[in-house]
Amino acid sequence: MHKADIGVYGLGTMGSALTLNLAEKGFDVAVCNRETDWISDFINEAGALASRIFGRDTLQGFVETLKAPRVILFMIPSGAPMDAMIDSVLPLLEDGDTIIDGGNADFNDTRRRFAELRDKGVHFVGMGVSGGEEGARHGPSMMVGGSDHSWQQLRPMAEAIAAQFEGSPCVDHLGPDGAGHFVKTVHNGIEYADMQMIAEIYGLLRDGGGWEAKRIGDMFASWNEGPLQSFLIEASAAALRTVDEDTGKPMVDVILDKAGQKGTGRWTVIEALKLGQSASTIEAAVGARSWSSYKAARVKAEASLAVAANSDLPTQADLQQALEAARILAHMQGFEVLEAASEEFDWSLNLARIAEIWRAGCIIRSALLDELAEALSGDNSEDVLILAPALINRLRATMPALRRVVAASVSGGFAVPSLSAALAWHDSMARGRGTANLIQAQRDFFGAHGFERIDREGKYHGDWVR
Ligand code: 6PG
Repeated sequence: MHKADIGVYGLGTMGSALTLNLAEKGFDVAVCNRETDWISDFINEAGALASRIFGRDTLQGFVETLKAPRVILFMIPSGAPMDAMIDSVLPLLEDGDTIIDGGNADFNDTRRRFAELRDKGVHFVGMGVSGGEEGARHGPSMMVGGSDHSWQQLRPMAEAIAAQFEGSPCVDHLGPDGAGHFVKTVHNGIEYADMQMIAEIYGLLRDGGGWEAKRIGDMFASWNEGPLQSFLIEASAAALRTVDEDTGKPMVDVILDKAGQKGTGRWTVIEALKLGQSASTIEAAVGARSWSSYKAARVKAEASLAVAANSDLPTQADLQQALEAARILAHMQGFEVLEAASEEFDWSLNLARIAEIWRAGCIIRSALLDELAEALSGDNSEDVLILAPALINRLRATMPALRRVVAASVSGGFAVPSLSAALAWHDSMARGRGTANLIQAQRDFFGAHGFERIDREGKYHGDWVR
């Protein structure tokens, strides 16, 4: 029997697109799906690529179609369905086989599954796939975690289907166990912050300036030619320029202002806090999505709490530079979380390489990531990213605009939670003497927690006035 190079289980949007991408790059792919009637429909629509795709109705037939040692990519919902799938497929596997979870999984689950399967001779890979359907079909960015053995099996296929940035594939083996899924989670956290900051600028222009959606879209389109060039600015410009066919109104004006979230942004914040970090720009973005769902309460509150303040709308140049500064700071916070996780889990993450594989294919791809890759590499690296020479000049040039934009927003009563979190983090970092000396005094006053002194080694208590 002719055997396939890889199996893809799960023919939803992402699984289907990855299968077609693999077949197009010359790999033979076995496919299977829980709803078996999807399989023939999918193959019938695959056109010329159908000859490289082998549909199988049963898990056993699917596994038997694969070359050994096998590589099976699961594109199914994360959580319990993945555990159930592992239980079903495990008896059919042999030593050296690799199963890949290509969904947005919680990296804690990935670490657990990796360890459980390793004891059974099977390799488990957690692989973050970014770029949506279009990326999966024509070139995603992929973040792979797992064993070297799995990476050797997967590498030729992954590099062939990945997005390319100046000839370099946007995929790499980033570390063991949960490293790939962790990096994807932080990618999504940065995605949340970037989307929120763009939405905050939109809100200022809409509510503070009375701008129509199309005008804002045109402005974003022009920004996309400069330092803010990125997929998310391009996507926002396109969204704002789109008209609803039914009403003739801008599409964004007929969309309810309640945002969904599947969990990766929240996971970034939770894991950051566990690691002693504060990715405040990302937390603000997650929080803003949560508040957005309180639609009825907000409508009521507007009647009694609305702020009747006046403020001059910042200039377009200020808005552009403010977004530039805040975007740099949000990325820095994301990379700080990656650095902390790398130490905690002993992953030896290569931060420059992560920035490199995010330069194309993924949702946060941008001109900034190219600069970050440079700033994070080799001799340019600093203890803290905020001091990287290439970025410090960019920050110095753009921070005054962020300060003016946040100040104008505060005066006018426009909420800019992510932009202001970026500013607060910058200002906290940019002050050598902070205020935690008083926090320490308070802690010692009520709990005898002790403190360090600036002039002597050791731990001390205060003889507090009471
Ligand atoms: C990507 C996206 C993708 C998806 C997120 C959206 O990198 O391709 O991040 O994974 O769009 O799941 O997440 P929310 O539904 O939480 O916004």
